[in-house]
Amino acid sequence: MSKVYAEFPEDFLWGGATAANQLEGGFDAEGKGLSTADVITAGTHTVSRRITPVLEAGANYPSHEAVDFYHRYKEDIALFAEMGFKVFRLSIAWSRIFPNGDDAEPNEAGLQFYDRVFAELRKHNIEPLVTISHYETPFHLAEAYNGWGDRRTVDFYVRYCEVIFNRYKDTVKYWLTFNEINILTMPFGTFLAGAIMPQGNAELGTSAAGDNEQLRYQALHHQFIASAKAVKLGHAVNPGFRIGCMIAYMCSYPLTCNPEDVLLAQQKDNLSNFLCSDVQVRGAYPGFAKRYFEENNIVLQLQEGDEQILKDGRVDFYTFSYYSSTCVSADPDREAIGGNLSMGLKNPYLKASAWEWQIDPQGLRWSLNHIYNRYGIPMMVVENGLGAVDNVEADGSIKDDYRIEYLREHIKAMGEALADGVELIGYTPWGCIDLVSAGTGEMKKRYGFIYVDKDNEGNGTLARARKDSFYWYKKVIASGGAQLD
Ligand code: BG6
Repeated sequence: MSKVYAEFPEDFLWGGATAANQLEGGFDAEGKGLSTADVITAGTHTVSRRITPVLEAGANYPSHEAVDFYHRYKEDIALFAEMGFKVFRLSIAWSRIFPNGDDAEPNEAGLQFYDRVFAELRKHNIEPLVTISHYETPFHLAEAYNGWGDRRTVDFYVRYCEVIFNRYKDTVKYWLTFNEINILTMPFGTFLAGAIMPQGNAELGTSAAGDNEQLRYQALHHQFIASAKAVKLGHAVNPGFRIGCMIAYMCSYPLTCNPEDVLLAQQKDNLSNFLCSDVQVRGAYPGFAKRYFEENNIVLQLQEGDEQILKDGRVDFYTFSYYSSTCVSADPDREAIGGNLSMGLKNPYLKASAWEWQIDPQGLRWSLNHIYNRYGIPMMVVENGLGAVDNVEADGSIKDDYRIEYLREHIKAMGEALADGVELIGYTPWGCIDLVSAGTGEMKKRYGFIYVDKDNEGNGTLARARKDSFYWYKKVIASGGAQLD
């Protein structure tokens, strides 16, 4: 088929995406409390990050300084504006607003920080897209309540939403309730997203006590209730709010046309992807979820009224992260490969990044169509990108043509999806400025258009520099996606 992709709409939201704990630093500035992200050490591609309930002297906690957006937001936003951003996805650090999570009153200094950030974005006509909870929960809620394992965390979250919705009701229109909410369908999400305490020190994604699937799904149910309540509340505060879900879309192909593989791929798609978005978009648990719970002895504690709460809190739009695809097979001997948050099988037709994430632009077109066919509501790709090692040349330039190539092909795929009729309204590639990797805690795994001088050990001046992709993306935005070379 010829490569004729559609023009992007005039009002298409071009921009970039970040998250507070990977970007801001200032982890204890002006009354901010410790978050779950603040107790996770740095790791590498081969060494897991560690969760240390008590901070260890001498250990490297990458969120503590991150890339210091806390003090450099004006410079960074000016660079985003120079690229022509229409939208900037950021998250609010919950423990900046409620240091312990269960405080009676919010921390005014924390609220003022985001007042300043949103004012700076407005100055440059950049629309904020705010993730309310992106892999961080006030650590006190983890310690005192076992995080999302406890229903009371729903009330703390809703109170937090009430405060930020009212405070920013005239400055923020687009909100996402939880980043990659479906990560709680996997053990990796237990502490990262669920703030469920490990037994003693543990590695990220594992627990000394083993996985507790019952508790994970109960925590997920609490997040669904919290998300639905937030949607209803947000619409009451400002009917103009647009509130979305955010799914780590795990695109999984059957490895062969063996019906066993095809069925497995569908089951994975259902459980890993659609379970969460069905609840958030359609307002009810799908039948396959109920079957899975029954067959795996998972008994959710539902309160009276929960079903109505889910129905009343359906999201306005669907957003997702897309980095790579993997395969699924009934044959246990096939070769495995990594990917965003989950492992899968190697696809012989695809190449992979240095972190073993397979590169598959067509998978993005496929996913957009596949998801849109199910829900038919506006969509945004709010994370996409290539984590790679960048080198600074002697003249200071950073020639990241591999990143340009990756993004170009994915933008073409989005254009194809638009031509297919998908209602795609925005694109915020991940880590538009280099930031800390969530999976490994490294700095060396870079995604940005803007280079930050900092290494894995935390050394560097934190100075910003424009990569080749910076100038390229600026042209892409200026041409409305028409000029991709
Ligand atoms: C997504 C997360 O899973 O992938 C981000 O929402 C994360 O927080 C991004 O940074 C890329 O993953 P990584 O592990 O390369 O940082």
